[in-house]
Amino acid sequence: MLTDGFGRKIDYLRLSVTDRCNLRCVYCLPERYTHFSPAGEILSDEEVLKLLSCFAELGISKVRITGGEPLVRQGIAGLIQRVSKIAGIADISLSTNGTLLAKMVHELAQAGLKRVNVSLDSLRSERFAQITRFGKLAAISEGIESALQAGLSPVKLNCVIARGMNDEEIGDFVKLTEGRPLHVRLIELMPMGETGFFSKERWVPLQEIMEKAAPIEPLPVEAWPFGRGPARYYRRPGAKGTVGFISALSCGFCSSCNRVRLTAKGTLVPCLDASEGVDLRTPLRGGASRKDIQQLILSAVRKKPARHHMLERALGAGRNSRYMCQVGG
Ligand code: 5AD
Ligand code: SF4
Repeated sequence: MLTDGFGRKIDYLRLSVTDRCNLRCVYCLPERYTHFSPAGEILSDEEVLKLLSCFAELGISKVRITGGEPLVRQGIAGLIQRVSKIAGIADISLSTNGTLLAKMVHELAQAGLKRVNVSLDSLRSERFAQITRFGKLAAISEGIESALQAGLSPVKLNCVIARGMNDEEIGDFVKLTEGRPLHVRLIELMPMGETGFFSKERWVPLQEIMEKAAPIEPLPVEAWPFGRGPARYYRRPGAKGTVGFISALSCGFCSSCNRVRLTAKGTLVPCLDASEGVDLRTPLRGGASRKDIQQLILSAVRKKPARHHMLERALGAGRNSRYMCQVGG
């Protein structure tokens, strides 16, 4: 079992398979972002699998595939299939912007994918295009439908809330959960990367998001949708789906954190907010043994901080030097 310096059990790895994305969401990337990694710096499928088997042996049993946009990686379904066969990996999930989901959902389900999280920050096409800079709402809606039809479950929708961007759509997001088993997660805006987007004014604190989501009632933990993460779940009375709240700033979730992150370039990042990590790619390419790699993983896990410092930075002027697309959310 992997345990960090504060006694937290680490059994969940967020695996970024690419830092590239076919969208440029305003809170995530600058419009003309050009710092994507050259292909040679990105871990190959073989390298990903080698590292994952080292992680699995140490006690990682849950893997979430993230990006950038993971579905733009060539051969992603094949990689997912091979990941799902690693001994010890019991759960594999995917976070996607949904643009390519309709096209790929069957291939993904066949590869062993059970569930999916899709970003959805507006239900109005024009605004959706503004927020994502390139996105077509109709394509994402089709992706969400196809995920439901393919039997992926649960289907979770990630809505990042920002004032003046989509805060008056909170009620509409919650409505999506009424008739169908969709699990909407309302996410507090975080100060990540030099996007120029985060500001105190744009930040809608959890309390306000919850007030706008009313009426909702707390759900007992047994009724929460599968996947234990930082979200706290509620339900609109009588609804088929649920409403989760993810609040990094207002209400820390660090004390129950169970995860570490591996970037597409093979750096193990112990915390979403950490500006450093442990490079696993160089030793891997240099022929390090499994034991050596596992020692490095253990050293990174030991470096996991007690908590992030996003609130302090949000109230000051600092931003995390890493973009979300580099660390995979
Ligand atoms: N604040 C909050 N959430 C963010 N995401 C990306 N950038 C931010 C940010 N600055 C979300 C995406 C996606 C998830 C992986 O992270 O919308 O749902
Ligand atoms: Fe791409 Fe996701 Fe970032 Fe949007 S939030 S630009 S979809 S990585």
